[in-house]
Order: sequence, then C-alpha cells, then structure tokens
Amino acid sequence: MEEKARYVTIEEALNKGKDHVNLRGWVYRERKSNKFAFIVLRDETDIIQCVIKKSNAPEIFEAAQPLTVESSVKVSGTLKEDHRAPTGYEVQVDDLKIIQIADPFPITEYQSPELLYDNRHLWIRSREMNAILKIRNTITGAIHEFFRNRGYYEFDAPVFQPMMSEGGSTLFEVKYFDDKVYLSQSWQLYAEAGIFSLGKIYNMGPTFRAEKSKTSRHLSEFWMAEMEAAWMELDEVTEVAKDEIRFIIEQVLKINEKELEILERDIKKLESYAKEAYPTIKYKEALKILNEKYEMDVPWGKDLRTLEEAQLADHFKVPIIVTHYPTEIMGFYKPPSDGNPEEALCFDMLAPEGYCEIIGGSQRSLSIENMKKRLEAEGEDPRTYDWYFDLRRFGSIPHSGYGVGVERVVSWICGLDNIKDAIPFPRTMLRKEP
Ligand code: 4AD
Ligand code: MG
Repeated sequence: MEEKARYVTIEEALNKGKDHVNLRGWVYRERKSNKFAFIVLRDETDIIQCVIKKSNAPEIFEAAQPLTVESSVKVSGTLKEDHRAPTGYEVQVDDLKIIQIADPFPITEYQSPELLYDNRHLWIRSREMNAILKIRNTITGAIHEFFRNRGYYEFDAPVFQPMMSEGGSTLFEVKYFDDKVYLSQSWQLYAEAGIFSLGKIYNMGPTFRAEKSKTSRHLSEFWMAEMEAAWMELDEVTEVAKDEIRFIIEQVLKINEKELEILERDIKKLESYAKEAYPTIKYKEALKILNEKYEMDVPWGKDLRTLEEAQLADHFKVPIIVTHYPTEIMGFYKPPSDGNPEEALCFDMLAPEGYCEIIGGSQRSLSIENMKKRLEAEGEDPRTYDWYFDLRRFGSIPHSGYGVGVERVVSWICGLDNIKDAIPFPRTMLRKEP
C-alpha cells in the first residue's frame, strides 16, 4: 500500500518556516506570467503564497494553467522566507495535485453587500467571515466555560412554546398538528421552573422574534445565552452579567489576536473593556445625564431609543448597566420595586461604540395577581400561564436572570457594521435565503 502523505495546516507551515511540507486547500488568488505561476493558497488557518517556476518544473507550471479561484488542490514544496509574500513565507512547489477546477467564482473583489448575502454559502469562506466565525466560537465557548466554572448546569427549554414571554407582536406562529404554537422568544419561563431543581442554570440556543424593524441590530433568528439563578436578587445578577462580559472579552483577546487584526478591530478599546469596572446607574440617573449633559429631551416613562442608549454608553466609554426602568413599559414578569412601584427591578447592559443593548434581564415577579393583570392588559389569556404560576405556588423564592444577545456581542467585539455578519446564515424580515 502507498504511504499516505502527512499534511500540515498553513498555520503549522508558517510556524515551521522551513523544510518540505504538504499542504491542501483552495486557491485564494492566482496570477500567472510567462515564467511563474503564483497561487495564494488558503485553508481554515491562514493563507500562503506558492510559486511554480516554469524553468524548474515545466510540467507543474503547465498543470497550474487552468487553476481558478477556489479550485481545490494539494501542494508540496519547500518553505522559504519572503518578505514580499502576503504572510512572509513562500512555498516553492515541487508537486501539485488538482482536486477540482472551480467554476468562475461569483464573488470578486468589490461586491455589493446584497450579493454577498445572496452568496452567503460561498462568502463564509472569506478571510473576514472566517475571522468572525472564529471569534464567535471563542465567545460561545467562553459562555459555557464561564457558567460551568461557577457551578451552573446547562438546562434546555422547548423551542415550540404555547405562550409568549416578550410581547405578542413579535411571535412566530407555527402550525402544530391541528393546533398552533410559537417559536421560543426566550428560555426564561422554563428556566424559572428549572431553578427549583438545579439552582443555577444557563443555556444558549436559537431564539425567534418577528422583528419588523430593519435595523443593523435585529435578526429574526438569533442566539441568546441566558442564565437564571435561585435566591439571586437584582444587585447580584448585574454583577454576574459584568463578569461574564469581561470574561468573554478576556478570552477573545487571549485567543483571537490574529482575527482581531484581520478585522482591524481597535484592540486598545477591547483591553479597556476587559479591565475597567462597568458602572451601574438607574434609569432616572440616565435621563438626568441625557437631558442635562446632552440636552436631550427624554421624558420619564419612555423606553430609551438606540440614539439615547448610544449616547449613554459613549458617555461612560465602557459597557454600563441601567436598572429600574419604568414598570409600565416592561414585560409582565418584571416586578415593581418595593418602595417605588413605578420602577421595575430590571436591567439592560449597553455596549459603547454605538452597539447599545447587549443584555436584558431582571429579578422576577412573585405576584400571580400582578402578572395576571399585566397579561390581561396585553390581551393574553392567563390560563395559558397557569403552569408558570405554579412556580409561585410551590415554594416560591426570589430569583433573577438575564439574556445575552450572542450576535450583539459578536458584532460589538468584532466591530461589525451589521449584525447579519455575526451569524453564518442571517435571518431577517427581508432575508431567509440561502
Ligand atoms: O431584552 P430581551 O428581550 O430579554 C429577554 O428575552 C429575557 N427573557 C431574557 C432573560 O431575562 N432571560 O432579550 C435579551 C437580549 C437583548 O438584550 C439583545 O441583546 C438580544 O437578546 N436580542 C436580539 N438580538 C438580535 N436580534 C433581535 N431581534 C434581538 N432581540 C433581543
Ligand atoms: Mg431588552
């Protein structure tokens, strides 16, 4: 039997910097002259220039002529340092095996964003998307690590749910045999059942909202990383959220230096987010800053708009937590605070540089009566929530939780213009393909 060649990744080859190597991958760029054929090869790790000199290897030079962008190849050759090459080294090719000659690639250098989204299945190969997807992988890995290190259990909730948690207007209705259900808007209500068994739990999963807004911050399918903890109150849960975000950023700085560079992300800013304390302010203090310092005109009782959130986070230059939003405009499960019922025991975390809300969370209401009233006011049938009210009937305790918008965090950390690039195959009101 013929001995199998040992292949190394381009990254391994670049680290080695010398000797003979076998590589495999795809043609990232190609250029041919009378005497030379240059192929920039890419794989999942990096790119490297490969050179075929006609006078040295006339047959290989000939074989390389039909190569097109994204053709798949196996290349063998000797590594040589070369400052002109894109990653500092060059492979002097002595063997080339073509696996497939690619059709003309539909994506060329300057393309409209819509064409890139139409060809998303091909565009995820780009260096930029490769870097984003690697950072996303660090972020989701860090979320698991953060909670597991702290003794949280992973707990799963159904995606088909009989009721809403975040407002009826963004529900996706799905035919369910002869009945109907909704796609999950949040893991939370089921998590509130889970804590009576497991105490501290977390989850990360697909979440669905029929968002009619066409912004650069909304997806109709996104991933939310949520936590819920028994006995925890607002002042404690906000600290968990800060620690989680700082941990995520530390991990990205540790693991993804190369990817941040490809994305031209300002590392200094990320370093400050990993290091600095994040302030917590109340909604009413936020209004004071906006109205007095920035001459805005936000009346008490209104939710903060993107523009106002952006101004606030920029004021502090680090992520901030805003608590005690007006109870009236908050979800049915967010409780009024004891001394001040118009203020709810809830919070958002707002990220700077215009990225705004990345986390929403709260302490949870323990009053069946209050929640019923709120649900009825929203046109919901409280009977659908009866199982949820059982959690207040059988050993009710204070508890809290929050949800991190994974793509919001990916966008912010990568410095993206649009949240659609934070997920491999984005879904929005206007985009459901490919
Ligand atoms: O603020 P939200 O709606 O909170 C909840 O769903 C709570 N039930 C979570 C909890 O307490 N367990 O959503 C949480 C986060 C937001 O802060 C935002 O980052 C993200 O989810 N998010 C979206 N991300 C992308 N596209 C959308 N349409 C989003 N809607 C919310
Ligand atoms: Mg929210």
